[in-house]
Amino acid sequence: MPALTAKAPAKLILLGEHAVVYGYPALAVPVASRWLRATMQARIKPANSGLTVSAPQLDIECPFEALPELHPIKAAVIVTLRHLGIQRLPSANLNIQANFPFSSGLGSSASLAVAVIRVFSAFLGHSITNPELNTLAYQVETSAHGTPSGVDNSVVSYNQPIWFIKGAQPTPLQPGANFHFLIADSGIKKSTAASVGELARRHDEDSTFIDECFKKIAGLTRLGRQAFQSGEIQRFGELMNENQEQLAKLGLSCPELDRLNAAALKSGAFGAKLTGGGLGGFMVALSPTAETVPFKKALIEAGAQQVIDVPVLKNPEGDSHE
Ligand code: PMV
Repeated sequence: MPALTAKAPAKLILLGEHAVVYGYPALAVPVASRWLRATMQARIKPANSGLTVSAPQLDIECPFEALPELHPIKAAVIVTLRHLGIQRLPSANLNIQANFPFSSGLGSSASLAVAVIRVFSAFLGHSITNPELNTLAYQVETSAHGTPSGVDNSVVSYNQPIWFIKGAQPTPLQPGANFHFLIADSGIKKSTAASVGELARRHDEDSTFIDECFKKIAGLTRLGRQAFQSGEIQRFGELMNENQEQLAKLGLSCPELDRLNAAALKSGAFGAKLTGGGLGGFMVALSPTAETVPFKKALIEAGAQQVIDVPVLKNPEGDSHE
């Protein structure tokens, strides 16, 4: 039997992270050039030898049973088997490869869940719809993060720009112009569960200040949706800056991210902010045009480990020129 492969993109939250956990909206896009690939290869001999898992970037090379109980790979396989009503693990190897770093604000756990669920159900002979995929990936995210909003698994499952509110079906969005984002890695690994958990602890102690920030974020995210759809690039950038201000007030930025944001703005970016959980990981900047080389140079000089172009185009199948 030939190997089966499924790919899932990385994701980028443009506006609304953290507030989205509390029921406010977020706007997110897939990152087409960065993906995670899951491959299933059947093993004929020895018979009934079970499932083995290899994921070099995560230092995993072991039988399925040896994975930690809450590991997203294990959770993804279990939810898929349960969904399909299948009890027995196939004799096969599941291999995971990604071309973007884990724990950096690009939604690696959602990409992992989506790619594994897709390849596993295909391997077992079942096709899966996007809403089913999204529901199962959310279950995996819940075991990995605790209280995820669901934005990561939604944008990765549907693989298109979305408007997202917790508990509702995501709304696909069409940009009104070509947006040229860049994302830069601060090089600092961070835990989303930790930053979400710490904010929740502070919210339990005193919600007034945090709720005020979230309401401002919700307002600017709604305006961001209009600017995105009507193609007002500069306005969208201003809203990214306002979002960063609120995230910094919430204590979710750090000197390395601040340095990258400042470098992007100094070079003429329309906007710059952290993306995802914060306290490290990636930041996102919005270039006024498709010419992003000067921003890359400035971001590398300011300490970025890598810089990636993320074009979000009005007509993705067509020409990317302005
Ligand atoms: O850091 P990431 O890629 O896991 O993104 C987390 C986004 C949050 O809004 C902070 C959490 C969530 O569940 O939406």
